[in-house]
Amino acid sequence: MERISDLERKYVSEVLDNAFQTSKNSVYNNKLEAAFAKAFNVPYAIGHINGTATLHTALAALDVQLGDEVIVPPLTMSSTALAVLQNNSVPVFADVDRDTYNISPASIKEKITDKTKAIITVALYGLSPEYDEILAICKEHNIGLIEDNAECFYSTYKGKYVGEFGDFASFSFQASKHLTAGEGGMLTCFSEELANNARRFSSLGYAGVSAKQGKITRDDIQDPNYSRHVSLGFNYRMSELCAAVTLAQLERAEELIAPRVKTAELFSEAIKGSSLVTLQHTPDYCINSYWSYSLVLNTDKPATEWYRFRNLFKGNGGDGYYAAWKLSYFEPLFLQKVQNMKGIWQQYEAGLCPNAEYLQPRMIQLKTNYWNLDEAKQQADILHKTLQQF
Ligand SMILES: Cc1ncc(COP(=O)(O)O)c(C=O)c1O
Repeated sequence: MERISDLERKYVSEVLDNAFQTSKNSVYNNKLEAAFAKAFNVPYAIGHINGTATLHTALAALDVQLGDEVIVPPLTMSSTALAVLQNNSVPVFADVDRDTYNISPASIKEKITDKTKAIITVALYGLSPEYDEILAICKEHNIGLIEDNAECFYSTYKGKYVGEFGDFASFSFQASKHLTAGEGGMLTCFSEELANNARRFSSLGYAGVSAKQGKITRDDIQDPNYSRHVSLGFNYRMSELCAAVTLAQLERAEELIAPRVKTAELFSEAIKGSSLVTLQHTPDYCINSYWSYSLVLNTDKPATEWYRFRNLFKGNGGDGYYAAWKLSYFEPLFLQKVQNMKGIWQQYEAGLCPNAEYLQPRMIQLKTNYWNLDEAKQQADILHKTLQQF
């Protein structure tokens, strides 16, 4: 299977043939936003330059202010927490569940204070968080919910798409993701008011944009008395080239997701019966889209055994698998800088999230983007052999 097909090439050619003329511009942005909203059963979708900008926009659109607290998991790619800092707000870390690796509703409850304004959940590696419980918490405390679905596409929770639960849902089209244009992001939303805020924030605070209208009209900008900027915003707009590629990828989404799920099945066959590793648990009411196939190495000595297992796997011909990212609050930025940033004070230290601290050093993140399944089968066989030798 080709990750980039003739369809992407065709759409990109159209954009180039139009030579970026503003009169014809935004065609693919409009098409992509409409198709994306339809795909996720939501009324609004707003294209962004990436899946970090989307999170920043969502926080600003929810009116999360300087010093407000936002609950996030620490076991994720750190954009989740960085977006909170970009918004001059305070990331408060809730622990994760030991089996699913996703944010724990019980821990969220413990971290709520009267300053909590939002929660950002992450569908880690393609698996949905526990939305029944999380939505109940948000409702009880009147807290906004932002889904960070950068690693998740067409996964489901109790029959609904991940992306249908939060006030906002954020997606990424960075190169490693299920759908890609190299970079890119999408923010979906149910409320027109929030979508208006989001559009304006991501389009330099332009007066003339709205939930469904991403561009100011020519008549407006030709008027010398036209006041463009009504609020402070960033320029987070998606380019037409990015929209063209992403639209083609969206139209091919099922085809692009299938090899990842198939690769995960092959890996599951390979680890069957082994007590050396434990797979991220997918509850039976969830469908996982397997951005990555993630395991925990069951060892008391992760500091040495993680490397020993990886060297053995690589020595057998395995692709070098990834570790889970350092927990966000163990990143130098947080340890050295954030504790002292103006308006932002939080004690970030070991022991904050014990489950995440147990999991992270033991985690093995196997890639699932094998477009040729023979290669995936080969990797699964190597995994099986390595487990037997270890
Ligand atoms: C969970 C998570 N959130 C956010 C991002 C950021 O997305 P982007 O790279 O498009 O900014 C990523 C990955 O890149 C991610 O894995």
